[in-house]
Amino acid sequence: MGKVVVLQECGSTNIEAADKESYSHGDVVRAICQTAGRGQRGHKWDSTPGENLTFSLVWEPSFLHVSQQFLISEAVALAITDTLAEYGIEAQIKWTNDIYIGERKICGILIEHSLCGASLSRSIVGIGLNVNQTEFPQWVSNPDSMAVEAGCKFDVDEVFGRLYINLARRYEMLSAGDYAAIRADYYGRMFRRDVGARFFIPEEGEVFGKIRGVEDNGALIVEIEGLCRSFLFKEIEFII
Ligand code: BTN
Repeated sequence: MGKVVVLQECGSTNIEAADKESYSHGDVVRAICQTAGRGQRGHKWDSTPGENLTFSLVWEPSFLHVSQQFLISEAVALAITDTLAEYGIEAQIKWTNDIYIGERKICGILIEHSLCGASLSRSIVGIGLNVNQTEFPQWVSNPDSMAVEAGCKFDVDEVFGRLYINLARRYEMLSAGDYAAIRADYYGRMFRRDVGARFFIPEEGEVFGKIRGVEDNGALIVEIEGLCRSFLFKEIEFII
């Protein structure tokens, strides 16, 4: 177990946790209030202070080749859905790693890797899990929270404790090389897998297809008009 540092306020926990002098494998920086929370694709991450979980965990998975980095995303998404399931909330993983309940997003993940040669040296795993927030700014699309789903409030520290244990458990699967089980579990919880749905492909427009899986490099495999095609991040969008 690493150390868990709780800050009353900081800009972004991902930036705090990037300090190699202060944080190493298994350590966590948690913020009650993030003033400059960061999301994917340069978006901001909004979270009402004290109501939710906003933290970054440091992993040092030097046993993984850079081409295997998607395993980190899978393990983290699984740990979050494991935790929600412990509270009776069935969540799905929307590729690459958003956590959804139905068509609404309950948790965002921002993972930033550093490399040493061709191996991963350090991964900053930023997690924003909506726990007790029930009102959201208008610009946040399809927000959800544990409280919205369950109709009651939760002990945020307890949710963190369970999530931390599940993250460690999923990491152990990675370090044991249990990649097939990670992939099987990811497939079992994948949003819209094998379900016909509309997607947007830049330069092609709207298409109809079925998600069939992911490549080892994380590319999404979608069957479109009988042909399986692979798409990297930003090459395809869900139409929700
Ligand atoms: C997303 O866009 O879905 C990813 C959101 C990630 C938010 C978390 S909150 C803790 C950590 N610190 C940040 O600045 N971002 C991540």
